[in-house]
Amino acid sequence: MIKVDVSNVISEQEIAKYQHQVTRINKMINDKSGPGNDFLGWVNWPNDYDKNELERLLVDAKYVRDNFDVLVVTGIGGSYLGAKCAIDALKGLKSLDKPEIIFMGQTFSPNYTAQVLKYLEDKKFAINVISKSGTTTETSIAFRLLKDLLERKVGKEEARKSIFAVTDKARGALKTLCNQEGYSTYVLPDDIGGRYSVLTPVGLFPLAAARVDVKAMLLGAQEARKEFDNDDLKNNKCYRYAISRDYMLHHSHPVEMYVTYEPQMSQISEWLKQLFGESEGKEKKGLLPTSATFSTDLHSLGQFIQDGSPLLFETILNVLEPKEDVTIPSDKDDLDGLNYIAGKKLSYVNQMAFQGTLKAHQEDGGVPCNVIYIEKLDAKTLGYLFYFFMRACAMSAYLLEINPFNQPGVEIYKKNMFHLLGKKGY
Ligand code: PA5
Repeated sequence: MIKVDVSNVISEQEIAKYQHQVTRINKMINDKSGPGNDFLGWVNWPNDYDKNELERLLVDAKYVRDNFDVLVVTGIGGSYLGAKCAIDALKGLKSLDKPEIIFMGQTFSPNYTAQVLKYLEDKKFAINVISKSGTTTETSIAFRLLKDLLERKVGKEEARKSIFAVTDKARGALKTLCNQEGYSTYVLPDDIGGRYSVLTPVGLFPLAAARVDVKAMLLGAQEARKEFDNDDLKNNKCYRYAISRDYMLHHSHPVEMYVTYEPQMSQISEWLKQLFGESEGKEKKGLLPTSATFSTDLHSLGQFIQDGSPLLFETILNVLEPKEDVTIPSDKDDLDGLNYIAGKKLSYVNQMAFQGTLKAHQEDGGVPCNVIYIEKLDAKTLGYLFYFFMRACAMSAYLLEINPFNQPGVEIYKKNMFHLLGKKGY
């Protein structure tokens, strides 16, 4: 489904030196015996997911598709980025499909929140509230506002049938509310953390509502699960990629830049930044994940990448076959001088931009570049890629002797904020 070329970043001899560590860590992942082992539920999830729950989810998602103009998904971090990136990547940025999917609860922005609430006033909307803890402030505020608007519009009884929740099976304020109100509720299992949850109802409910083939996505993840659970460093592209990252960190390239040539894939980079940043950035260790969308950013960051401080290496996600294409027309006067590419497709121009940039960055700029070639991006391939990156992330973090599944650092700002807001106990 994908080809992973790490040859510009690390040699086969250097890869082979990791064999001992990779064998040990792969066993740890499969046996669930490493640090944070109570959060390894995602490893076998593509096979082990609750089939009955998925069927129920598909029925609810169809109900949403058939009855509403808009689905508002409220969640933040791991409870939002997976669905957001998959919808953008698979549906494009100008999809006219119904229902429209709007995300809320990922910000405290008064401007954005006020605008969305105003926009929803004359729309028939449903709500999908997603929070594992059930107490995240951004999500809770958004949900309180949305629930209030919905209940004022359609009444409490109808609102109840228009709210779908994903949360912990027993704990948290949201779970208590779901029980009390009788919302249709889906479970984010205890042993799967937010940033590893895209293939659970956290990602699958909004995706199914957006007409994404979620069974194909799970099938893609299942294939990846089967392909990457071994320590064969000649063939395991997932671990070869993980090793290339570790090698870069230890060879003066502490910044990884995720690059796409498709604006609709930019959010995949956001998902990757959370996955790797929150999993690895601990104990003063870890690569800094950054991102760029080319060719757009070649006209801004391109200068730095080519000639600036030599800190970064690239991991490029190159989709070879677009879903749609455009042919450049011929013009009889040719005043813009474009006739030399008249009749060519934009996908061809984009690939030439990729090839030209790769050469410029690697050869002239000395920027090491990994390339992940993706034949075409559909639901199955994206499921495969999600699993590929989650497993690579676990391997990378364990190579650094870091627990990939906690995030102790993110609590500190919250404590300060709660204190300033006057929350009880802070
Ligand atoms: O990956 C994570 O654990 C975080 O990004 C969480 O998903 C995020 O903070 C949202 O948490 P919750 O789902 O509890 O609202």
